[in-house]
Amino acid sequence: MERLMVQGGTRLEGRVAAGGSKNAVLPCMAAALLTDEPVVLHRVPDLRDVRTMAQILERLGVRCERDGSTLTLQCTDPSRSEAPYDLVSTMRASICVLGPLVAARGEARVSMPGGCVFGVRPVDQHLKGLNLLGAELRVDGGYLVSQVRRPLKGADMFLGTRFGSSVLATTNVVMGAVLARGLTCIENAAMEPEVSEACRLLNSMGAHISGVGGHKLLVEGVPRLHGAEHVMSGDRIEAATFLVGGAMTRGDVTVTGVDPTQLTVVLETLSEMGAAVDRGQDWLRVRADGPLRPVDITTMAYPGFPTDLQAQFMTALCVADGISVVTERIFPDRFMHVAELLRLGADIRKEGPQAIVKGVPRLSGAIVMASDLRASAALVLAGLLAEGETEIRRVYHIDRGYERIDERLAALGGRVRREAQPKVESTPLDW
Ligand code: EPU
Repeated sequence: MERLMVQGGTRLEGRVAAGGSKNAVLPCMAAALLTDEPVVLHRVPDLRDVRTMAQILERLGVRCERDGSTLTLQCTDPSRSEAPYDLVSTMRASICVLGPLVAARGEARVSMPGGCVFGVRPVDQHLKGLNLLGAELRVDGGYLVSQVRRPLKGADMFLGTRFGSSVLATTNVVMGAVLARGLTCIENAAMEPEVSEACRLLNSMGAHISGVGGHKLLVEGVPRLHGAEHVMSGDRIEAATFLVGGAMTRGDVTVTGVDPTQLTVVLETLSEMGAAVDRGQDWLRVRADGPLRPVDITTMAYPGFPTDLQAQFMTALCVADGISVVTERIFPDRFMHVAELLRLGADIRKEGPQAIVKGVPRLSGAIVMASDLRASAALVLAGLLAEGETEIRRVYHIDRGYERIDERLAALGGRVRREAQPKVESTPLDW
């Protein structure tokens, strides 16, 4: 077990390159199940989630080879169709092998992902869409099981959750539909850039998907797909994490290799908070030289404010000059970071899916526990702000989605180091 030790009180300053998008690369890797030709992905970040997906794909007969940041995936054994609990339970995104498996192999046995720290996280929309394509799925022994006659059949559908649309359900169903006979029309498709990126890769593999980037996707099934080569786009969430870190430490941070048009609402929020934002075609710079102003934030589906940045922005608001209200509309229970921020001296009151954040003049370092990926990033940023030392435990969460975060923050001037968590000496009780 490792921990991060963060010494607060430094400004972040300098340039950092965004890595390839985690949430785009995972479904793009799963797309390799749809062809027996190589799928070559460039600019693939070295993250725990990418390794987990590679392990799952290896179990499903896909050879995954990494050379630097290039990952070559090739399906060599289409007879295997089980994604086991031990791997799926560590990463919900593994559910996106379901669509390609039923489409390409006519059978799937994929562990139900189970809950996570942000609540129940149902998969009903994944099942609804794939069922409409003719892949009847049942739950058997904790696994989603399907055995169908291929090809699946195109269908019209509305994919809706209580909170709007679903990112991975949209991608999963699209991957189910690309090899189906006839036309599939998905209304209320998620518009997140990661969905569009998976569609672009599929189109370069020979799929016919139109309406990419919009709420209505049309998929005209084709009999087979071929291999392709694709360069992943920059991770918008990682980029914005560095930018908000720059703003809250009154620093000056430039992130390169990111598309500013994917972060419009986030950049507006940073400007409203008083940071100066400059942008080029593929870079962003944020500077701040005084206390940030409070803002109200409501998370929404793209192009709204991303839930994946809620925790990091809440940290910045903890030391803003006034009161902010943060409303979580995508995952109403995604507030695990609040209790840890309170340990650092923040003033936050949680009421249902809202947190009322009253800015305080300073935070003070303490031991905190990372609970999920974005909450851990928020705690590292909080450590940079806090006076004294902050110890962040369970940092394996952060390695799921941020590559070498400690080294990259250190290169920006943050005093962050990684070390082994010492074993706790316990005195046996003679009860
Ligand atoms: N939902 C349902 N039924 C479903 C699917 C989703 O009710 O069948 C609900 C969810 O419970 C949630 C809402 O719909 O309330 C939206 O969830 P969505 O399905 O869009 O989330 P996801 O696809 O499972 C992806 C990202 C998450 C990100 C969300 C929302 C990946 C690998 N994960 O998850 O990323 O928070 O979209 O944008 O793409 C992260 O990177 O830290 C992360 C959690």
